[in-house]
Amino acid sequence: MIAEMNGIAAHAGSPFTPGYGRAPLVFGGHEDELDELTRVFQTLDFGENHSVLISGLRGAGKTSMLMMLQDAARREGWLVISDDASAGLMDRVMETTIPAMLDTLEPATRTRLSSLGIWQINAQLEYVDRHRQTKPLLRRDLIALSEHIGPDAGILITIDEVSSGKIRLRELSRFALEVSHALQAGANVMIVFAGIKIDLDALLEQEHTTFLRRSRQLDFRRLTPGETRHVLDESIRIGGRRIEHDALNQLISVSQGYPYLIQLAGDYAWRNNPRSAVIDQAAADVAHEKAITAVQRRVISRVYQDLSEKDREFVQAMAQDSGRSKISDIVKRMDVSAQYVQVYKKRLIDTGYVRSDGHGYVAFSLPYLGEYIRSMNDEPAAVDDGWDAFPPPPSV
Ligand SMILES: Nc1ncnc2c1ncn2[C@@H]1O[C@H](COP(=O)(O)OP(=O)(O)OP(=O)(O)O)[C@@H](O)[C@H]1O
Ligand SMILES: [Mg+2]
Repeated sequence: MIAEMNGIAAHAGSPFTPGYGRAPLVFGGHEDELDELTRVFQTLDFGENHSVLISGLRGAGKTSMLMMLQDAARREGWLVISDDASAGLMDRVMETTIPAMLDTLEPATRTRLSSLGIWQINAQLEYVDRHRQTKPLLRRDLIALSEHIGPDAGILITIDEVSSGKIRLRELSRFALEVSHALQAGANVMIVFAGIKIDLDALLEQEHTTFLRRSRQLDFRRLTPGETRHVLDESIRIGGRRIEHDALNQLISVSQGYPYLIQLAGDYAWRNNPRSAVIDQAAADVAHEKAITAVQRRVISRVYQDLSEKDREFVQAMAQDSGRSKISDIVKRMDVSAQYVQVYKKRLIDTGYVRSDGHGYVAFSLPYLGEYIRSMNDEPAAVDDGWDAFPPPPSV
């Protein structure tokens, strides 16, 4: 992407990756967790890591972490099954993902697998269908795959976007039951779920998910200032440029360690004057404003849509203060009982959008959420969709 022209680096592509589900060039933080889980892929000594729950704020890097784990697992020769927790999960995995995976295995492995009576595999060693004499069960697939991949590797299953809809949860719990049977039979499987905290908690309350209660739980919030510095500085260096000291500090403070915002701020700073070898203060100033507008539009607005009506009332009541808010003020503003406010406070703290700030106070922990809500209140509710520029249609 970086072409050298006449000795001057032409910095064509930005090394930043703002966007959902785009793995960053430099993955900041979470080193201990990555090391520990990668060691499981190497040693198959699972400990508490047969199941992992990754919760966290929107845009905090859950999907990116799943991709890091998938890469690490593949490097160690593991099979990877990845999907979203949307309707039809079990069928998709059994009818599409696993058959597609069979076709990528070594011919000798496929020959061995065809003798198990689970899958029909043709003379060219391609998957044809399932044998219908046995009821297809995911556990059988996992056990067979695990046995045939040998004792030095396993199967990583990642399920993203866990949400707490009733039907979804029922499907997920059926899926978890199959995985737990495979584990009991000794299959080498690690399953990783990602979603917001409240949805993962709802998953744990389902039937058949007892084994998930022993899961390794990771909660993704913000990176530390040091990790943020590393992501920005290192991405820019790999991209072939450098950044002035003060400009870097400004990007760190704008992004507040929030992964999506780190990528946005870095990207805007990069694009300001892409042919210059150095990212300067002027670029950081431009990035500052643009990144905050963009994160509100792309991320914070989604966070707000995720909230229930009552949660919204709570954050609206909080947004009237520019700093932290007194719980007793929120009680007055919402015009409800103190216990009621406590319930919503706890929920919002669980999601990671709000935190306690000293006794009897709360503050926003998601950067710019308060500003977003205040700006929504300032703006007229109707958006300009361009219709006003036309004369009204003739009446019929
Ligand atoms: N550890 C990290 N270091 C640097 N940048 C990161 C990191 N993790 C994620 N990002 C960047 O943050 C953005 C959001 O990442 P991702 O889509 O993984 O978040 P998410 O938690 O899955 O969001 P959602 O809850 O909306 O699904 C992407 O631009 C990604 O490149
Ligand atoms: Mg995601």
